[in-house]
Amino acid sequence: MRALSGIKPTGTLHIGNYFGAAKQFEMFQEKKYEGFYFIADYHTLNAYPEPAKLAENTWNIVLDYLAFGLDPQKSVLFLQSQVPEVVELAFILGNYTPMGLLQRAHSYKDKIAKNEPINVGLFYYPLLMSADILIYKSNLVPVGKDQKQHVEIARDIAEKFNLHYQKEVFILPEPYIPEAVAIVPGTDGQKMSKSYGNTIEMFAEDSVLKKQIMNIITNSTPLEESKNPDTCNVYNIFKVFVDKSKSIEMADKLKAGGYGYGHAKKELLEAVHTFFDPMRQKRAELAKNMDFVEKVLKEGSEKARSVAIETIKEVKKTVGLVGNIY
Ligand code: TRP
Repeated sequence: MRALSGIKPTGTLHIGNYFGAAKQFEMFQEKKYEGFYFIADYHTLNAYPEPAKLAENTWNIVLDYLAFGLDPQKSVLFLQSQVPEVVELAFILGNYTPMGLLQRAHSYKDKIAKNEPINVGLFYYPLLMSADILIYKSNLVPVGKDQKQHVEIARDIAEKFNLHYQKEVFILPEPYIPEAVAIVPGTDGQKMSKSYGNTIEMFAEDSVLKKQIMNIITNSTPLEESKNPDTCNVYNIFKVFVDKSKSIEMADKLKAGGYGYGHAKKELLEAVHTFFDPMRQKRAELAKNMDFVEKVLKEGSEKARSVAIETIKEVKKTVGLVGNIY
């Protein structure tokens, strides 16, 4: 069984991403899924990222994932654009995809509703994503709620193709929306998300990390007064990292009064360091050894590509495209 997970290199990862990703790594390894993790760099092009930024974000995610504990011996970590067959498959699948299926995609409809200019890359996005999923014969695709529709589109297209040729060429993928993953609140109390600008970036420089924590929004209850832990953003983030006994301790101190939000932030900063410093160190070491990191990505991409080539050969044979350059 194979689980496939893709992430777009569009920004810096934050502690919400860590808890989502790390849970997945663990779960797949336990349940004996072969984990395929890739960086969906082709998927960013429809928004015209600055080239140097795209490259930087890509390497950063590779480093982040390795520092998080993704084991390249057990899982396959690769770059979407290093497997050109995925684009070939997207093109082929386009012929089995009714226009209406893509016109109903939320991402496309949102842009239309906002009257924003739309390029074909954006319209085609769910097809490329379908090719990502189908080319590796993925059984399970862990995604956020916003991406569920795209996995369903992949299923639809796979079914259409299989039905047309009366052959089980593609495996129908299942979307998987992890529920157990703690929702990490952001510095303003909403879900932590880069689009809300409320993140804490565990791999940022010390000063940036400190600033993000010190900027957590709190109310103006005076130091000496009792505070409600449940509505305290600092406490709600703290809870995610520490043992129950520690979080109860902080809750008691908040309730008792005489303990300010500044004190709580200081404790949170320490907890974040205790939790992430080993990963920060590992990441810093990896960053000094980019030859190794490049090698990991290259080997992962070769491995992924070998699977993709088998699928594209089968697809071409099925539709009657002859020739074999492989
Ligand atoms: N569209 C996904 C996102 O924005 C990223 C992605 C691209 C993906 N291809 C994928 C996720 C295939 C899972 C499987 O988050």
